[in-house]
Amino acid sequence: MQEHKYCVLMVSAEVAPLAKVGGLADVAGALPKALHAQGHDARILMPAYPMVEADSRWQVQPLTEFEFAIHPNWRERAVVKQLQLPSGVVVYLLGVGDWFANATESTKVYAVDPRAYVAFCRATVEWLARHSEWLPEVVHCNDWHTALIPVYLRIFSNERTQPIATVFTIHNLAFQGVFERAFFTELGLPDYLFDVEGLEFYDKVNLMKGALLYSDRINTVSPTYAAEIQTPEYGEQLEGLLRRLADERRLSGILNGIDYEEWNPETDPYIPAHYSADDLRGKTICKVELQKACGWQPDPEKPLIGLVSRLTDQKGLDLLKALGAKFLQLPIQFVLLGTGDPAYERYFRAWHKRHRAKVHATIGFNNAWAHQIYAGADIFLMPSRFEPCGLGQMISLRYGTIPVVRQTGGLADSITPYDAERDAGNGFVFREYKPMALYEAVQRALEAYQNRTAWQALVQRVMRQDWSWARSAGAYVALYGEAVEARAQRARALTH
Ligand code: GLC
Repeated sequence: MQEHKYCVLMVSAEVAPLAKVGGLADVAGALPKALHAQGHDARILMPAYPMVEADSRWQVQPLTEFEFAIHPNWRERAVVKQLQLPSGVVVYLLGVGDWFANATESTKVYAVDPRAYVAFCRATVEWLARHSEWLPEVVHCNDWHTALIPVYLRIFSNERTQPIATVFTIHNLAFQGVFERAFFTELGLPDYLFDVEGLEFYDKVNLMKGALLYSDRINTVSPTYAAEIQTPEYGEQLEGLLRRLADERRLSGILNGIDYEEWNPETDPYIPAHYSADDLRGKTICKVELQKACGWQPDPEKPLIGLVSRLTDQKGLDLLKALGAKFLQLPIQFVLLGTGDPAYERYFRAWHKRHRAKVHATIGFNNAWAHQIYAGADIFLMPSRFEPCGLGQMISLRYGTIPVVRQTGGLADSITPYDAERDAGNGFVFREYKPMALYEAVQRALEAYQNRTAWQALVQRVMRQDWSWARSAGAYVALYGEAVEARAQRARALTH
């Protein structure tokens, strides 16, 4: 039997390569591309950011315009445009009023006023209900910015939207879109939805909670994180509801992949030399060039540790901070790239200033430099407090850079401890969220690094593992099937 080909609309506030802040953009760009390559009609919908329309790489074409009301005192005008990515995937750009006019660069993509997302979600449903020329079988929403879509689809459905199934993916439960109670009146929803069985959350409004209740299927980006968020430690006060969803078999975990075209040491346009598992000479050149770029003497034998990350508490940087001098006394070089919490930015800038001989920290966003670190480093650090999936560990594996990770979420699902005796495992893992646990894991990595032959075998082995989206896309197709079936069951239940 031939597999059913789905029409899927992926909705996300950030999409690579159009506008990227973090890992969500990578997923929102790469999953539709993988589905498209497998014959599915996967398209993308995102807010119309000026930075995308101004980018000469894309040919943006106008499609349609319409007016709509969110509530009696709030009317908006929506403009839909479209472009096509080189992969063939169609992207719809939805502009609503001036809500996203500030997004002239990727650091300004996220609107400060949450009404921007109310308008965007309501306009999405209005577009599907009355104006789009194409209709998906599944709308796939991501994170709280798009969480109102499944709610509006349920409340304001018509014959066109009625059959549409919804999937909601949690990329990070730490951000739920929680606002003061008064905000509820802005949503244009019936009052009965301000309820424990609705968007009410400790007397506030929780947009993600709406998506959890109103989507046909909910998933998160790794099986371990799907289990963790059912506990008080990781559940961010939604663990009760998440446990219920798991009992009802509506919650699951699917590990992300990475884009194997973008992240490929054999073709990467950003790195000084190409290499593969069969021929690692280029990796040494990448390392030496990285050392030079950091202002250090080239030394292929000195262990070089890389870190590319949002600089936030989630990423376990307080562990590194707590180690401080102890970490810097190790016989290593350390190169860091990231932006985020100003306190961390200041802290690592100071490291850079005071320890120039072994630390190089770039505070900012620089895609080329990120590629050069993944390729040039020997070891990649990811000590996350929690990690829904994490992409950095998979990218580093692809570049033969061995990860040191905390055993949580997607890190636990992708990295297994290196065992020199059996030549098994692909990284160095610690469990306890303690500075010394991280330190010992780094030490184990440095010890292993001393055995140059065994290390090279490890590098070659991890480079041959498969972390491509082709693998995970199949799991999403199965999830779409479940969502469509659940949607059909709901319709049958209503007519009986
Ligand atoms: C968020 C999570 C990260 C995940 C990414 C993509 O950024 O923090 O763990 O990899 O989303 O799903």
